[in-house]
Amino acid sequence: MPPNNATILVATPVAATSLEFQANFNYLIACVAVISVSAVQYLQARKRDIAVPSIGPSGRLTSYYGAVKCLSNAREMLEEGYNKVLDVLCIRSCLVGLNSLQINGIVQITPDLVEELRRVPDDKLSFLAATNDSLATKFTLGILVANNHYHIPIVRSQLTRNVGALFDAIKDEVAHAFDDNIATVGDNWVARPGLKIVMQVVCRTSNRVFVGLPLCRDKDYIDLNINFTIDVVKAARIINLFPDFLKGVVGEALTSVPSSNRRGVKHLRPLIEDRIQQYNEHGKNWPDKPNDMLSWLMDEAPEDERRNVEALTQRILTLNFAAIHTSSMSFTHGLFHLAARQEYIQPLREEVESVIKAEGWTKVALTKMRKLDSFLKESQRYNGIGLLSMARKALVDYTLSDGTFLPSGSDVLVNAVGMHYDDSKYSNAREFDGFRFANMREEGEGEGAKHQMVSTSNEYLPFGHGRHACPGRFFAANEMKTMMAYLLLNYDVKLENDSRERPKDMIIATSVVPNPKANVMFRKRQT
Ligand code: HEM
Ligand SMILES: *[C@@H]1O[C@H](CO)[C@@H](O)[C@H](O)[C@H]1NC(C)=O
Ligand SMILES: *[C@@H]1O[C@H](CO)[C@@H](O)[C@H](O)[C@H]1NC(C)=O
Ligand SMILES: *[C@@H]1O[C@H](CO)[C@@H](O)[C@H](O)[C@H]1NC(C)=O
Repeated sequence: MPPNNATILVATPVAATSLEFQANFNYLIACVAVISVSAVQYLQARKRDIAVPSIGPSGRLTSYYGAVKCLSNAREMLEEGYNKVLDVLCIRSCLVGLNSLQINGIVQITPDLVEELRRVPDDKLSFLAATNDSLATKFTLGILVANNHYHIPIVRSQLTRNVGALFDAIKDEVAHAFDDNIATVGDNWVARPGLKIVMQVVCRTSNRVFVGLPLCRDKDYIDLNINFTIDVVKAARIINLFPDFLKGVVGEALTSVPSSNRRGVKHLRPLIEDRIQQYNEHGKNWPDKPNDMLSWLMDEAPEDERRNVEALTQRILTLNFAAIHTSSMSFTHGLFHLAARQEYIQPLREEVESVIKAEGWTKVALTKMRKLDSFLKESQRYNGIGLLSMARKALVDYTLSDGTFLPSGSDVLVNAVGMHYDDSKYSNAREFDGFRFANMREEGEGEGAKHQMVSTSNEYLPFGHGRHACPGRFFAANEMKTMMAYLLLNYDVKLENDSRERPKDMIIATSVVPNPKANVMFRKRQT
């Protein structure tokens, strides 16, 4: 699936960017189409009305006003709904903004219902159908990716399993990428745009594991992959304004997805063709076969994709789509907490240093850095990258155990932000307590694993929960911990003007983007 998931739906800093139609002519077509399609969708949407309490205006037409409000006030609206109606409530208004004009959607909030949602089979409430729609997957990531998700088990197993074997490469890329992008001068402090440099580090590190050196450091390849996520989400928004029979044409004509694909092919063709030749000459286990994502894909791909440059390129782009913005935004949220809360630096450094001294700088060492794990986990609770989680689309009429009727075609999402800020689930939920989960691990004899960064639950949803919980989270957690440990060991970090105020998040619809304008100050470690 477009691995891209609800996550992405919820994760990309894209909504605010205006749609960049290149010519007035395009505008004209778009306007006419939008108006006529709106009318049709309006009539269709009535069939998917859900009779539950609603935040914001709930009238069929007035909810459009709610949608506009939701684009900038989703957080307040969701928290209000969580506190008011501890059951199921409708945010049809948000969904208008999110999912173009598909006016259907509810958020449900009790843990019981999350548990239930997690158990309902995919042929009734479907994750893939929800992402298929929201990302217009068939047109953005392509029909092959929409129809076959063989990369997901590879992410879950091969990628996770190889983090140990690839740890030295991951560590090496993290170090070089931070050093290249921070580029301190002598012992002076330098100001660097936080999110931007983190994107670079995450993109290089992920691609060190996806396609290896030297491509992971190629500037154009990096730009392409960083921009691709944004391309896809923008394209999906445009495509979803049109009826199905026009979507293909619109996708070709009005979006940059096709040109991104060609650009990806240009970079990957020599690499893939060389490997195809090796496979053809020596079979599956040729000598010096690289241990990377591209090889795992070529081992597992269905027959028709296995030796197909375009198809394999599309998978690599799709994985970048799933991996880069999610991890970069999550890490930057944590980096802003660290820079604003200087008191965490010392205890985290002590932990990282003592563990490395005892264990060496290995993947096993990372599992023993419990404070670091807790800090990043708390950061994801406090500023998850999405206000909502676990998108599912009803493929049949479905009635939840509390009686809520979901008409076929409606979407369900969980109010993650409400849950994460609920004092009955997290004491002093409005406090950022970096060592909250480490302390819970100390206290909860025998249930330590439950409070690790990679564990999901009914009440902890930054990676989703259940069957579709993010399969990349084991890799992402190791990558993020390695990044944070490297910074702690090698740099002093603070905010501009010695500010202790964390840069304000940018909330776009239901995405929580770490402030893209905020600088972080770095200098070579002095203490
Ligand atoms: C901190 C970083 C990340 C966050 C916060 C995140 C979050 C998520 C979420 C919320 C979902 C949907 C889960 C659900 O609805 O139950 C998801 C799915 C997914 N993620 Fe991640 N993700 C991250 C990193 C990654 C990475 C690094 C990869 C790949 C290398 C990845 C690959 C995927 C894929 C393939 C799916 C779809 C799973 C399925 O369809 O069953 N993610 N992610
Ligand atoms: C997703 O889209 C593809 C291509 O249109 C389709 O074949 C597939 O059945 C869809 N999956 C779901 C779960 O709706
Ligand atoms: C990537 O996107 C940014 C911002 O939209 C743009 O300035 C830049 O030119 C793009 N880079 C490439 C290589 O497409
Ligand atoms: C830091 O201080 C300078 C000079 O007073 C000011 O121009 C700048 O906006 C401040 N930066 C931040 C992030 O507060």
